Amino acid sequence: MNPVIDVLAPSEVDCLERLWGQLLVHHSREAAHLAALGAVRSPRDSWRLRRGQYLEWLQEPLTAVLVARDGNQLLGYAVVRILDAPGSWQWGDQVGVLETLVVDDEARGAGVGQALVRAVRERLAESGVQVMKISVIVGNDDALRFYQREGAVDFVKTLVMPVSE
Ligand SMILES: CC(C)(COP(=O)(O)OP(=O)(O)OC[C@H]1O[C@@H](n2cnc3c(N)ncnc32)[C@H](O)[C@@H]1OP(=O)(O)O)[C@@H](O)C(=O)NCCC(=O)NCCS
Repeated sequence: MNPVIDVLAPSEVDCLERLWGQLLVHHSREAAHLAALGAVRSPRDSWRLRRGQYLEWLQEPLTAVLVARDGNQLLGYAVVRILDAPGSWQWGDQVGVLETLVVDDEARGAGVGQALVRAVRERLAESGVQVMKISVIVGNDDALRFYQREGAVDFVKTLVMPVSE
């Protein structure tokens, strides 16, 4: 597949709801162990919160929503931000953060994800960014393999635990 990659205007953010819902289903299936700490939100509630975050992030000048399209059909999207990153490694003053990457269930495995990541990397490189952080939920092994093939390596292991014993 040879998708067209575009930048989405903030006013069009609601077109992402359907794919966000697919990602929610994917995560709840692949990371079922997390439900022990609390149930997954409803798709509507989850989108309400995520939508708010996207709109907030889009007020930062360097945030972008990249969409992959085949004609009028939305095949996938990526949300990328650029954040200050003082740290122990000389990765430059800022790093990219891939906040979301999702490809439509029906379009997976056809290179759409790779095309989106390539576009994100080009965009970051144009801003002088050298490194991009990605968080992958444990259990999402397909996505992990996908990113590793793109050159990603292990960084932080984030844990969650209940507060009351
Ligand atoms: C991970 C994802 C973005 C990759 O995009 P894609 O367009 O399917 O990927 P590409 O065609 O460019 O590359 C194929 C790779 O994607 C991964 N993949 C994940 N789910 C897949 C599926 N249902 N079918 C095929 N490949 C899949 C595999 O690593 C595959 O490589 P493989 O041949 O070694 O199995 C996409 O599959 C997706 O949206 N998955 C569900 C949501 C998700 O996990 N997002 C990442 C959250 S961090």
